[in-house]
Amino acid sequence: MEIPLKKSLITAAIIAASVWALGAAPTERVPDDPSIPPRVPAVFPSTWRFPAGGRATFAPHAMVASDNQIASDVGVQIMKEGGNAVDAAVATGFALAVAYPEAGNLGGGGYMVIRMADGRAAALDYREVAPLAATRDMYVGANGKLTGESVVGPKASGVPGAVAGMMEAHHRFGSLPIAKVLAPAIRLASEGFIVDSTFQRSVGSAKYRIENFSGRTSFFPNDSGPGFGSRFTQPALARTIRLIADSGASAFYRGSIADSIAAEMQRSGGLITKEDLARYRPVWRQPIRSSYRGYSFICMPPSSSGGTTVTEILNIVEAYGQPARFGSAEEIHALASASQRAFVDRNSKLGDPAFVSVPIARLTSKAYARTVAKTISRDRADPTARLASSEREGNETTHYSVVDQFGNAVATTTTLNDLYGSGVYVRGAGFFLNDEMDDFTSKPGTPNMFGLIQGEANAIAPGKRMLSAMSPTIVLDPKGQLLLVTGARGGPRIISATSQIILNVIDHRMTLADAMSAPRLHHQSLPDSIQLEPGGFEPAVIARLREMGHFVYEQRGIASAASIMRVKGGYDGLDDPRSRGGAAVGF
Ligand code: DON
Repeated sequence: MEIPLKKSLITAAIIAASVWALGAAPTERVPDDPSIPPRVPAVFPSTWRFPAGGRATFAPHAMVASDNQIASDVGVQIMKEGGNAVDAAVATGFALAVAYPEAGNLGGGGYMVIRMADGRAAALDYREVAPLAATRDMYVGANGKLTGESVVGPKASGVPGAVAGMMEAHHRFGSLPIAKVLAPAIRLASEGFIVDSTFQRSVGSAKYRIENFSGRTSFFPNDSGPGFGSRFTQPALARTIRLIADSGASAFYRGSIADSIAAEMQRSGGLITKEDLARYRPVWRQPIRSSYRGYSFICMPPSSSGGTTVTEILNIVEAYGQPARFGSAEEIHALASASQRAFVDRNSKLGDPAFVSVPIARLTSKAYARTVAKTISRDRADPTARLASSEREGNETTHYSVVDQFGNAVATTTTLNDLYGSGVYVRGAGFFLNDEMDDFTSKPGTPNMFGLIQGEANAIAPGKRMLSAMSPTIVLDPKGQLLLVTGARGGPRIISATSQIILNVIDHRMTLADAMSAPRLHHQSLPDSIQLEPGGFEPAVIARLREMGHFVYEQRGIASAASIMRVKGGYDGLDDPRSRGGAAVGF
């Protein structure tokens, strides 16, 4: 009798100790939650390029999903060293600037939505601003036509916000010393990484843009791009990140990096000065809080249109009625009509809140959505011209999602706009500058590179932020627990992809893999048409949409997302199957 009792006491002690250890350890498993509703297998047309029933990466404790495997690994490493999701997001952001220069950046800007495990939520706007010398019509030539200078070359860049933003996020929410957070990116830049086919193809595809500026010497020495299997090092970029690690963002905005940017601008005829850099500030904003059929959201207010427009679309769809079957003409009609109306508002009413008054509360209200939903007929499309005329008033981005072992979550989208931005490369500092000025309304009535026709609210003015579509979003389940961290790249299509991933998860109960792989549609009001991913929709459905009066055409690759979703016992994560080289990594 004595021995078994002793044995059971010892066993109990071991169990108690391990329960204590598990409870105290930072790597507590996400509790199995019976409230997580079962997922329903999706059905896609046989012609669709991604099969239903695909798998995501599963991890019990923490995860990073980004467009670059090396950068995801860096974020995970930081969390394994005890860092939280914000440390990991900042480390991933700097690593993307090194290993994924087509979109990861120090010379661009972005947005970060944060939700801490204790319920605090924050939204950081580190969008670029127009230089002080910018003028309203700076891209309109003598012949009245757009010159193209908003897209390529030194005049295309806004004052970069990325470094200030990431450092600010770390300052407020990070837990590890910044030197530790930036160490992997410094190493990656100085020791280099092995060139794979994705990197080689990406750089090669932008040769026409890069070779006209000083990045030519780093990216195309002897006229050829980085060789497959070779080691690609960026010593100047390593020096730049080391300076930031040592002296903070002031090295970039007031110190020697600012000197290099201003010198590059002077040499090439760009507008950004040392004064512009010294004045740059990221802005903490009140996140938009909204809901959809009992789930709630935390998303980005202007200067991005993302959160407002995603919210407006979801509110209109909710007010329109119960969801129709995924991929049916009824569902597409409702969603496209809601998007069309939300984009009319986006393109005419939104802009930098420091310059124009933005009716966010109204546009994101349920009452407004009910009024708008009533204008959607059940079986007929409305021309945008009619919707727009009732108004009374005047490629390349990257998204990454992070969750940590403490329950904190971060959704970040950052961009240079085009692949490798404006092409202009800061000599001696080792990074590309953005061509974000093209996101402004260069000329009312004339489309920008995404075909967006925007209004007065988004006109160019010195110090103003150009309107964005970036939509980093965090979704909570009806009990207020973290459910989904998502966002995408792809210009205005970001808004569509983000809304549709959310709808797929909530309305259609898809797994994360299916929700991300599902065929997407896009309607941005003008051009007045529904873009559908080819092969993703049944011919009979397309015929029915045309009958309703929709103009429908095929568009391959509607945005590319990176998402993490809480599932039983942990998290599923996935980088979009539409993009190459990304990965969800976890532990
Ligand atoms: O801020 C925006 O909305 C755009 N500059 C985003 C550009 C983009 O997503 C290009 N990526 N593929």
